[in-house]
Amino acid sequence: MEIYSRIRDIQAKVRELKAEGLSIGYVPTMGALHEGHISLLRRSDEENNISVCSIFVNPIQFNNQIDLEKYPRTLKEDSEKLDKANCDIVFAPSVDEMYPDKVSESYDFGLLEKLMEGALRPGHFNGVAVVVKRLFDICMPDKAYFGEKDFQQLMVIRALVKQENIPVKIIGCPIIREPDGLAMSSRNVRLTPGERRIAPEIFKTLDMMKEKAGKKNIKEILTEAENQLEQHPGVKIDYIQIVDESTLVPITNWDETDNIRAFVALFLGEVRLIDNMKL
Ligand code: PAJ
Repeated sequence: MEIYSRIRDIQAKVRELKAEGLSIGYVPTMGALHEGHISLLRRSDEENNISVCSIFVNPIQFNNQIDLEKYPRTLKEDSEKLDKANCDIVFAPSVDEMYPDKVSESYDFGLLEKLMEGALRPGHFNGVAVVVKRLFDICMPDKAYFGEKDFQQLMVIRALVKQENIPVKIIGCPIIREPDGLAMSSRNVRLTPGERRIAPEIFKTLDMMKEKAGKKNIKEILTEAENQLEQHPGVKIDYIQIVDESTLVPITNWDETDNIRAFVALFLGEVRLIDNMKL
């Protein structure tokens, strides 16, 4: 496995590999890698000749300074995990390398950036789009792998690729969970032991919503979900929504569409967690 920190070096390497006719699979991450990230890499390894993973904690997608400062940075452990997962190339640039000048790109994702995460984290998806566009230009992948854990991000990336005509196939991959149902996340390590015990309630609530989907009315289920989560100390709900998966617009009736997904975002103490489930 080779590790690069300079854009021109990894670009030269990728060009060389592509000239040999090798296909490139790519997994962008912010590091602090867990099984969720590794599952994307395995998929890339299965479907491509070469797998590239980037590790870059992207400052322009954080809207909370404390979240950015406390974001875990574990490059050594990450490299070991990637090596074991058959990763061929790691790209771990500095902030100056990725952003030598002031960022001026501004994307328009319409409703997508006004709902759920978009509404609560202004500028977040623009920050994601800016870095992913630059990373695609650098790594030139044939396929890129994203988790459904960040379902709205996956939709933003699909929109970005379409808008910018980027020649990459975007592959969405299932959410990997801890045995107790908690969706794996780099932020989980910041939970106190007490908060960690409460965190699987998010999965249990989503599961309850799935179980009752189509049987009870949507408003009642949302209230029940809210009550189920709010009874735990330290929980502050940002949103619980049942939406049309293709637009992310909330539905009020089960027969509005066949593609329905439930989303939860909440603070558990200082840590913000998100999760979702197809109903
Ligand atoms: P990060 O949070 O590190 O996630 C990197 C990729 O791993 C994303 O596609 C995310 O959806 C996926 N992922 C995270 N947890 C997962 C889980 N439990 N199961 C399956 N996939 C999971 O998402 C980002 O970084 C950044 O926004 C990035 C795209 C790298 C741009 O900076």
